[in-house]
Amino acid sequence: MALSGVRREVPLPDGSRLPILTGVDLEVDAGEHVAVVGRSGSGKSTLLNILGLLDSPTGGAYLLDGEPTDRLRARRRSRLRGEVFGFVFQQFNLLPRRTAVENVAAPLLYASGRAYLTRTRAAREMLDRVGLGARADQVPERLSGGEQQRVAIARALVRRPRVVLADEPTGALDVETGARVMALLTEVTAETGAALVTITHDLSVAALADRRFTLEGGHLAPLDGDAHLLAATASRSGVDGPAVADPGWGPA
Ligand SMILES: Nc1ncnc2c1ncn2[C@@H]1O[C@H](COP(=O)(O)OP(=O)(O)OP(=O)(O)O)[C@@H](O)[C@H]1O
Ligand SMILES: [Mg+2]
Repeated sequence: MALSGVRREVPLPDGSRLPILTGVDLEVDAGEHVAVVGRSGSGKSTLLNILGLLDSPTGGAYLLDGEPTDRLRARRRSRLRGEVFGFVFQQFNLLPRRTAVENVAAPLLYASGRAYLTRTRAAREMLDRVGLGARADQVPERLSGGEQQRVAIARALVRRPRVVLADEPTGALDVETGARVMALLTEVTAETGAALVTITHDLSVAALADRRFTLEGGHLAPLDGDAHLLAATASRSGVDGPAVADPGWGPA
């Protein structure tokens, strides 16, 4: 994926245009983990939506596998969106009144062959891996915020997407559960060679990435000022260390 000079403006009711992204340059290769931090309202979710083909730039270029995405026809665009990307939405976006396992299996409804036929088993396995095997048949309304977030993470990973886009994936989690979820995201993406783009407010989460950026004034700047501080923050929160090698969730 390569963004160059990507802009995103939105029209305001008074007829003016609000610039959200003013010139974002970013290349993410297969297998890479990139983290983006930035204050609330800086445009992080907007950027993630553009990467995942949920939103389109109003200027600049976005190439996916070398192909300009502004030329994609609607059908191909939505097929690519489902095939290439796994999303962890900031607001989870789980289907109400559907059980956790139905939510996690949902992306596989569009798969074909074996992946379709084994979707329920795959969903249960992924729920086991996020530590929710025992809650698989609950509807989201009966799950805590952190449990819903883990369902959302299982759903993003179940189809083994080439790119995982995670918007504040640990936002609703305590430090320990957050570390486990990040370990799982890192582990599954490493297994499949997928790219991982994580949006976070948490520097200890950002510290896990191969490259870090801050989104400020509508564009990205490298955030590598103090790698030692980042590493120290990470180990204090228990994000690196044994939890990364062993998430510690057996099958439930
Ligand atoms: N469709 C829209 N119309 C008007 N304003 C919008 C629209 N989409 C986003 N914005 C504004 O653009 C800015 C960036 O929004 P965005 O959701 O990308 O921020 P964010 O960095 O993800 O924030 P947070 O950390 O709070 O999630 C915000 O000020 C938001 O209100
Ligand atoms: Mg956001």
